Amino acid sequence: MIPHSIIEDLKHRCDIVDVISSYVPLKRAGSNLHGLCPFHSEKSPSFTVFTTGEPHFYCFGCGAGGDVISFTMRMENLDYRAALEFLAKRAGITLPDDSRDTTRDVGRKRVLEMNLCAARFFRDCLFDEKLGAEARAYLEKRALSSAVAKRFGLGYAPPSFGVLHDHLRKNGFTDEEMITGYCCARSQKGNVYDIFRGRLMFPLIDVTGNIIAFGGRVLDDSKPKYLNSSDTPAFKKSRNLFALNFAKSHADTRLILCEGYMDVITLHAAGFENAIATLGTAITPDHARIIKKYTSSVVLAYDSDGAGQTATNKALRILADAGVDAKVIKMDGAKDPDEYIKKFGAQKFAALLDESRTRFDFKLDNIFAEYNINVPEEKIKAAAAIAGEISYVYSGVEREIYTAKAASLLGIDPKNLKNDVDAAIRRRARKEKKDRPGELYRAGMGISDRVNPDFARHPKEARFEEMVLGLVFLRKEYLTRAVDGVPLTSDDFVTALGRRLFETVQACEADGGFDMGMLSESFTLDEVSRATYMRQSRENLSDNGPEVFDGTVRALREGNERAKQMDDADGVFDLIRKKRDALKNNAPQNPT
Ligand code: CTP
Ligand code: MN
Repeated sequence: MIPHSIIEDLKHRCDIVDVISSYVPLKRAGSNLHGLCPFHSEKSPSFTVFTTGEPHFYCFGCGAGGDVISFTMRMENLDYRAALEFLAKRAGITLPDDSRDTTRDVGRKRVLEMNLCAARFFRDCLFDEKLGAEARAYLEKRALSSAVAKRFGLGYAPPSFGVLHDHLRKNGFTDEEMITGYCCARSQKGNVYDIFRGRLMFPLIDVTGNIIAFGGRVLDDSKPKYLNSSDTPAFKKSRNLFALNFAKSHADTRLILCEGYMDVITLHAAGFENAIATLGTAITPDHARIIKKYTSSVVLAYDSDGAGQTATNKALRILADAGVDAKVIKMDGAKDPDEYIKKFGAQKFAALLDESRTRFDFKLDNIFAEYNINVPEEKIKAAAAIAGEISYVYSGVEREIYTAKAASLLGIDPKNLKNDVDAAIRRRARKEKKDRPGELYRAGMGISDRVNPDFARHPKEARFEEMVLGLVFLRKEYLTRAVDGVPLTSDDFVTALGRRLFETVQACEADGGFDMGMLSESFTLDEVSRATYMRQSRENLSDNGPEVFDGTVRALREGNERAKQMDDADGVFDLIRKKRDALKNNAPQNPT
C-alpha cells in the first residue's frame, strides 16, 4: 500500500481540472466546470468538475463520478495502482516501490524546519537596509508599522531566482525537500528555482506556532496579486486559518472572518485581535469545524463587492451547517475592512460589528436592495424571492417567524406569503426528484440495480441510507454524532453496499482521516460513482445541518426495522415454500 501522504501529494500535483481538460474541453460556470461526458454520449454537457471542497467530478447524465484517480482509472482503463503510476509519471515524481521506503517521503517536521529558516531569511531581507527598501516603502504606503510587520513575521522575497535556494542549501536542505515544501520548484530544464520572488511575504502560522506555509503579495498591480503555498506535508489550506494563532485567545465572544490577509493585519493593528481569514481560498467545512472549536459565533466581514457578497452567502451556509452562528456586517463606503478602518476609524468599525445582521436579515436586505417594492410587479418578485429563501429554512417555527417579519416589511398578509413558501417547498421536492437521474433510472427499471443489488429490495430505506451516507461524506463529524443517544453503526444500514461504505469511512477516519478518494482503493468504479452521487445530491441542497441529519437517521432506523420484519416474513414464506416443494418431491409418482 502507498502511504496516504504520498497520494495526497500526488493529488495536489495533478490538478483535477488540468488532468480532465487534457481529455475533455471544459467550460467554467461559476466555481465549477462543465463539459461533454467522456463516459457516455451526450449532446449537452452534464459532466461537471467541482473545484471547491474535495475536488471531484460527477456526470448528471450517466452517474459516473469520483476524484482525479478514479477519473484516470476510467479514462485510461487502469487499476488503482496503475492509475497512481500514470499520474505520478505525469507529475514527474516516482512512487515508492513499497510503503517502507520513507527516504523520499519528506516529512512534516523537515518542512517546518525549512519554513522557519525561510521565514527568517525573508524577514532579514525586509529589514535589510538596501534589499528591503522597496518593500518597506510599500508597507509605509499601506500604513503598516514595522512593529506590526514584526508581530506578523512579515518578510520580503527578493526578485532573484536563487537566493532562497542558496540560503536553504547552505542550511542543509536538499532540492527534494525544497520542492516538496513549496519553497522552490524545478523548471522544465531541470533547474531548481525560488517560487516567491519580489513579494511581500506573509508567513502562515498554525495555533501551535509552526510556520506552515507562505502567502506572497506583489508590491504593485501585477498579477497574480498573491501566490500561496500549495498543500505540503505540513500544510493543508482547507484546514488552516490566517492569524488564528493570535485570534484564538480573543475568541471568547466571537471571531471576525475576513477575506484578505491585509484586512486581518489592519484589524489586529486597530485592536480587533479576533480577526482571521482563510488562506487564499473560499471557506470549507473543515474551516468551519475548526472555528467551532474556538467559538460558536462569527461575524463575516467580507469585501462589499459582488464577489464578496456571493462568498458571504456561501460562508453563511457552511458555518450554519457546522453549527456556528454567523452574522454579517454591512460596510458602506469602503470595499473591505482594511479600507473601512483607514477611512472611518476603529470606533466606527466596532459599531458595525454591533449592528451586524443575521443570515436571514442579510438575505432580506439583498432582496430589498434588488427590488423596488413600491412598484407592484417588483413587489411580487421580491415576495417570490423571499418565499424561496424561507422555504430553505428547515425548522417550521423559524419559517413562521421569518414569514411574519417579511410579510410585515412587504405590507402583505402573512397567510399569502406562507402559501408561497409552502408552494416553493413542494416545487423543490418535485425538482429534486427530477434532478436525480440515477434514482429515476432505478425507479424506471424498478428492479435491477447492478451497483447496489439490494436497492430494489427496500428502495425507500435504501434512499434514506443514501441520504445519510451523503451527509456523512460531506460532514465527517456525523460519524460520531449521537442521534437519540446512539451514534450510527453499520447495523443501521439496509444494503450491503451501504454497510460497507459506512464501515470504510469509519475505518479510514480512525486511521488518520477519510477522504472520498480513498474509496477508489477498495470499491469498484461504479461503486465510487454511486458514492459520489450520494454526496453530490446532498451538496446541491442548502441545508445539511444537524437537524436534517438527525431526521434522516431516524427515518432510516424506522425503515430498517420495517425492512428487517419484511425479510423475516420472507424467511417464513421461504420456509413454507421449501416444505411444500419437499412434500411434492416425496409424493408418490403418478403412474403414467
Ligand atoms: N487571494 C489569493 N490570490 C489572489 C488574490 C487573492 O490567494 N490572486 C486571496 C488572499 O488570501 C487575499 C484574499 O484572497 O488575502 C483576498 O483578496 P484581496 O481582497 O484581493 O486581497 P487583500 O488581502 O485585501 O489585499 P490588498 O488589500 O492588498 O489588495
Ligand atoms: Mn481586499
